[in-house]
Amino acid sequence: MTENSDRTVVVTGGSRGIGRAICKAFAEPGTRIFFNYFSPADPEGEKAAAEETIALVRQNGAEAQGMWANVAVPAEVSQFFDQVMEATGRVDVLVNNAGILRDALMARMKEADWDAVLSVNLKGPFLCTQAAARIMAKQRSGRIVNMASVVGVIGNIGQANYVAAKAGLIGLTKTAAKEYASRGVTVNAVAPGFIDTDMTAGLPEKVRTAMLASIPLGRSGSPEDVAGVVRFLASDAAAYLTGQVLHVSGGMVM
Ligand code: NAI
Repeated sequence: MTENSDRTVVVTGGSRGIGRAICKAFAEPGTRIFFNYFSPADPEGEKAAAEETIALVRQNGAEAQGMWANVAVPAEVSQFFDQVMEATGRVDVLVNNAGILRDALMARMKEADWDAVLSVNLKGPFLCTQAAARIMAKQRSGRIVNMASVVGVIGNIGQANYVAAKAGLIGLTKTAAKEYASRGVTVNAVAPGFIDTDMTAGLPEKVRTAMLASIPLGRSGSPEDVAGVVRFLASDAAAYLTGQVLHVSGGMVM
């Protein structure tokens, strides 16, 4: 066991991609990992992916549970945290990672696409932060890490909804950092650049090539590149960091 192993870690959207890598990065004997996931378009596929995350975490000796819960629905968020509390009685780390895309140029963006992205990517972290911070404030300790994006800082064509949500999430990070600092809770954000996951797998070759050309380190990032920084933000080494946005983008944004 290490100094940071005996704790309960909650990750939203842990079935795939960056969320799965985060669950793995925290997995060590003594740690209890709870994640949720949600995909109405492919419930069976998502459940299978969640089972794989659970198996990977258990391989590393940590406890793992995955639950179907939509972060945008208050009742599902409460139920999720109730289950975590029933099982372990605490929440030491919350990673607000779940996110979706509904890209379109503003001229063509549908109101439903705006609402869906703002609900999952911004309201979701607000609801989960409220639920977790209430518990952390009583504990007088806790770490919250929000998954923003470089586009929330620099903007991006075709992503008005996503960019607005990620920029909002950065604002939420700073406000939560100020509100909960006196309770021993730190709140930081990670802003990834171009990371290889299902989310970016469908990008046209031309867009991919142009994005790669804009990355000084000359490669796309892996989910593990992001997970390592999240783990750092939740470690004792980051005790004096709060309200910060760490870009994990190979230098794409400086
Ligand atoms: P992904 O599409 O591979 O995985 C998304 C995860 O979120 C899945 O586990 C899914 O079950 C979960 N999810 C989706 N909607 C949900 C909901 N309503 N409630 C609960 N869970 C839900 O995505 P990826 O690439 O791993 O992205 C993770 C986070 O990182 C997102 O917030 C994304 O915006 C952010 N990000 C990703 C980048 C990339 O290049 N892949 C770049 C910058 C930020």
